[in-house]
Amino acid sequence: MAGRIQIIRGDITKQKVDAIVNAANCSLLGGGGVDGAIHRAAGPELLAECRGLNGCETGKAKITKGYKLPAKYVIHTPGPVWHGGSRGEAELLRSCYRSCLELAAEYGCKTVDFPSISTGVYHFPLEKASVIAIDAIAAFLAEHKEIQRVRMVCFDERTAGFYETALAGCGVET
Ligand code: APR
Repeated sequence: MAGRIQIIRGDITKQKVDAIVNAANCSLLGGGGVDGAIHRAAGPELLAECRGLNGCETGKAKITKGYKLPAKYVIHTPGPVWHGGSRGEAELLRSCYRSCLELAAEYGCKTVDFPSISTGVYHFPLEKASVIAIDAIAAFLAEHKEIQRVRMVCFDERTAGFYETALAGCGVET
C-alpha cells in the first residue's frame, strides 16, 4: 500500500478531498495563515458552526462541515506554540495528527489533507515538525486501512522539501 502518504505543493482551500485540516487556535474563531484562508474560502457559516464548538484544546481536534470549500469536512486542531521544545511540544504536535485522523476515520473520510501544523505563526521548527507529522501519519495509516490517502499540502517549496525528506526517511510501509 505504498504511496498512501503524499507531499504536494498547493493551497489547501482548493483541494477536493473528504477532509482538510485547519491549523487553528484554541478559540476556533479564526485567525491568520491557513486558518484565515480556510475561513475566507468556506464562508461565514464555518465561523457560525465553530462558535457552537466551545473552543478546542491544543492537540485535540473538532470537525465541521466544509460549506463553500470543495472539501466535505474541516477538521480543526490547535497545534502547540514552540517554546524551545521542553514543554511537551513534540507530543502535542503528534497528538494533533493522531486526533485529526481518528476523527477522519470516525466520519468515514478516505482522503485527508493536512497543512504543516504549527510551523508558521507558532514557530515549530520545520525539520522537527515534519518528522513528527510523517511518523504520526504513517503509524496511524498502518493501523487504519480504511483511510486511503493522506497528503501534506505545502504552501511553499521550502516546507515541501522538509516533508519530502521526512517521508523518504520514515521507512514505515503504509
Ligand atoms: N494552504 C496550505 N498551507 C497554508 C496556506 C494555505 N492556503 N496558508 C498558509 N499555509 C501554511 C503556512 O505557510 C505554514 O506552512 O500553513 C502552515 C501553518 O502556518 P500557520 O497558518 O501560521 O499556522 P500555525 O503555525 O499552526 O499557527 C496557528 O496562526 O492563523 C493563526 O489562528 C491561527 O492562531 C493560530 C496560528
